[in-house]
Amino acid sequence: MNVLIFGSGGRESAFAWSIAQSSLLSNLFIAPGNPGLSALGTCVNLDWRDRDAVVHFCVREDIHIVVVGPEEPLVYGLGDFFAEHPNLQHIHFIGPKAEAAQLEGSKDFAKAFMMRHQIPTAGYRSFGKDELESAKMYVLSYDGPYVLKADGLAAGKGVVILDDVVEALKELDAMLGAAKFGAASSTVVVEEFMTGPEFSVFVLTDGERYVLLPQATDYKRVGEGQTGPNTGGMGAISPVPFVTPEVLGRVHTEIIQPTLDGLRDEEIPYCGFIFFGLMLTADGPKVIEYNVRMGDPETEAVLPRIDEDLLALMIDAARGEVNTRPVATKPETAITVVLTSPGYPGDYPKGLPITGTDLPTEGSLLFHSGTAERDGQLVTQGGRVLAVTGLGADVHEAKTRAYARVDQIEFEGKQVRRDIGTIYGWPLK
Ligand code: AMP
Ligand code: GLY
Repeated sequence: MNVLIFGSGGRESAFAWSIAQSSLLSNLFIAPGNPGLSALGTCVNLDWRDRDAVVHFCVREDIHIVVVGPEEPLVYGLGDFFAEHPNLQHIHFIGPKAEAAQLEGSKDFAKAFMMRHQIPTAGYRSFGKDELESAKMYVLSYDGPYVLKADGLAAGKGVVILDDVVEALKELDAMLGAAKFGAASSTVVVEEFMTGPEFSVFVLTDGERYVLLPQATDYKRVGEGQTGPNTGGMGAISPVPFVTPEVLGRVHTEIIQPTLDGLRDEEIPYCGFIFFGLMLTADGPKVIEYNVRMGDPETEAVLPRIDEDLLALMIDAARGEVNTRPVATKPETAITVVLTSPGYPGDYPKGLPITGTDLPTEGSLLFHSGTAERDGQLVTQGGRVLAVTGLGADVHEAKTRAYARVDQIEFEGKQVRRDIGTIYGWPLK
């Protein structure tokens, strides 16, 4: 089979690493990919937005299956394009069409969907841009913290949590009044504040049944001890110690199955991954958000623990032949540590030379995230530069192996969190 992956980050590097091990694979292409992927497949200069080029490439290379890493192509209808184009219809496409991708692309859509199907989540109200005054009245009617969310995609920056009501009113002015996030904040969701540790549950589904992948939790804040601004993710751990079989049972009965039943009842087809961002509250697991793709950096911790052929699983999903079951999983703990550019998640320099990536250590994997090659030298290119996954018999061993590899790699101003693997917010106080 010839496989095309869209994306260029650590998540797509982990997909490529996993798919490259499949006996079903003939040729692997990654668009656009990164320098770390050249040993696993062919990186191609193909932009998903250039629809003519996509058709031309898929026909020329006889692509059988397309895997989409990030949410944007899905929210903007790449799945619909493949389903409708006469030369692409035969290709298995892993990822939902635009209608289902609204589960991630519109917080208002996701919340209304959860309400319709009694899926546990924070209480909320939505306000359009002509409802600024009502939004303010609503915020004034209760005590904080106040959770304000831009409805649309805002590159992970659209959620603002504030303790102070005056700050919350100002933020509503900025989001609804001054279009702080452009069209994404023309509707704002104001949500009840929940507490509890967070975890992510991933499934691969054909829209009816699903394969349950290993769970993970990510570390969103830039600073150790969960301090500083939010980032795209500074690390991840899998499995998650507080996700017991009982918790997972509730997630299945109260969240995953009702989500799939809801999609079916509303006649919304779905083939691909669903990432349930969850919080374990005192009342049980609740949904913080849906994502219509895998997480980054969670994927770099999750895929190395899967003991099955991922490509075969995706083909089953595309053919509607999935059986609800947990995927075969390796018992090891995986800890992923992200190496970021200095200044990230704010402004950061690019083009810093990277050394030490070719010194393998036992039980670790290196995934490129934001790297480039300049005159044969590997350099930094993005905020998140590399992701290292350590695998071990327990948290201690996984951590030791991850940081041993992290410490071999150097670039000027390299940032890493040293506390990946520590579980915060558990046990519940
Ligand atoms: P999101 O972009 O939806 O993943 O939200 C970013 C982060 O904001 C989440 O990972 C949570 O830590 C936090 N968050 C979002 N919604 C809530 C909520 N209703 N209560 C408490 N924290 C929340
Ligand atoms: N790590 C969170 C995300 O991928 O959205």
